[in-house]
Amino acid sequence: MLPVMNTIENFLWTDDFLLGYQPMDDTHREFVELVNAMLAADDAGFPALLDRFSEHALAHFEHERIWMQESNFPATDCHVDEHGAVMKSVEQVRMIVATGNITEGRRLARELAKWFPGHADYMDASLAQWMVKRNTGGAPIVLRRGAAKQEA
Ligand SMILES: [Fe+2]
Ligand SMILES: [Fe+2]
Repeated sequence: MLPVMNTIENFLWTDDFLLGYQPMDDTHREFVELVNAMLAADDAGFPALLDRFSEHALAHFEHERIWMQESNFPATDCHVDEHGAVMKSVEQVRMIVATGNITEGRRLARELAKWFPGHADYMDASLAQWMVKRNTGGAPIVLRRGAAKQEA
């Protein structure tokens, strides 16, 4: 299988993003779909997609905050702060896009595509591990398509 090639105009789901906690993986799939839709949108369609993304991000970050809070996750504050910084940018750019400046919206979509892999890998991954351990007593097992090497 060919690896998924993500470029700045193309942000596609790859199983490398799987973290093994199903509710989070489902949310992350939606995040990737919406950012990719923004990258592909024409000017007329962009503002509505940005609104949908903003709704998604609010729910996405709130779910993670609740998981952290309810489970006494040790590193809650910096994770919540990072979500807050993203949400602030999204709301600022929404106001700019509402004036007809779609270029700023596209720039945000590219920034979100750059931001997500690092955030997921670092902050969300440790939360996913924590949640799975708490729910099952073990670390998550992540099965990624194409991860198993075939013997020659
Ligand atoms: Fe997340
Ligand atoms: Fe997060």
